[in-house]
Amino acid sequence: MQIADRAHQYYSSACFVAVVSSTDRIDPQEKNVAKATKSVKSAVKGAVKTKAPAKTKAPKSDQSVPHIDIGITDSARAAVAAELSKTLADSYTLYLMTHNFHWNVTGPLFNTLHAMFMTQYTEEWNALDDIAERIRALGHYAPGTYREYAQLSSIAEPTNIPDALEMVRLLVKGNEAVAKTARAAFEKADAANDQPTADLLTQRLDVHEKNAWMLRSLLQ
Ligand SMILES: [Fe+2]
Repeated sequence: MQIADRAHQYYSSACFVAVVSSTDRIDPQEKNVAKATKSVKSAVKGAVKTKAPAKTKAPKSDQSVPHIDIGITDSARAAVAAELSKTLADSYTLYLMTHNFHWNVTGPLFNTLHAMFMTQYTEEWNALDDIAERIRALGHYAPGTYREYAQLSSIAEPTNIPDALEMVRLLVKGNEAVAKTARAAFEKADAANDQPTADLLTQRLDVHEKNAWMLRSLLQ
């Protein structure tokens, strides 16, 4: 029997076999069993001493919501959001008025006004989402009820169905009202160094001033 086999029998644990087969080769010509055994013992001892890496606990995830930190103070964000809420209320009121007039316009200018109002209310409708979501990005809730819009809007809604030219006059005033509200909001955004809001309001100013010009031209 080979010396290594004898040593193998002597230490027959699975751990021992693994260590011997992978790391230490015992010379089969070794005549001194004690020497081979000592080598094996040493290997086993080393294997036993080898400890599994210490388990480290994963750091606990932070469950809290991070505070908004975009370089605009809390009070400035609140002030800009309040102005945007007024802009949203005016914009929604103007949108609804324009759509209302699209439905109810009558007279010789029907085709012209019906189509023109549709172009305007479609653009205004799409802009509402941008305004509301900018308020959300600033950390505040966007107004979304008729009650809030009635409180916040500077635009008086008609109580009857105006004739076609009166609709146009009301829409001139409505577009100019949104422009004034957006311009006041722009001043707050500019003072707060809030470029995205200033950019959005600049676009709204451009649209409503252009609408007012086109509508006014129908009356001249
Ligand atoms: Fe329509």
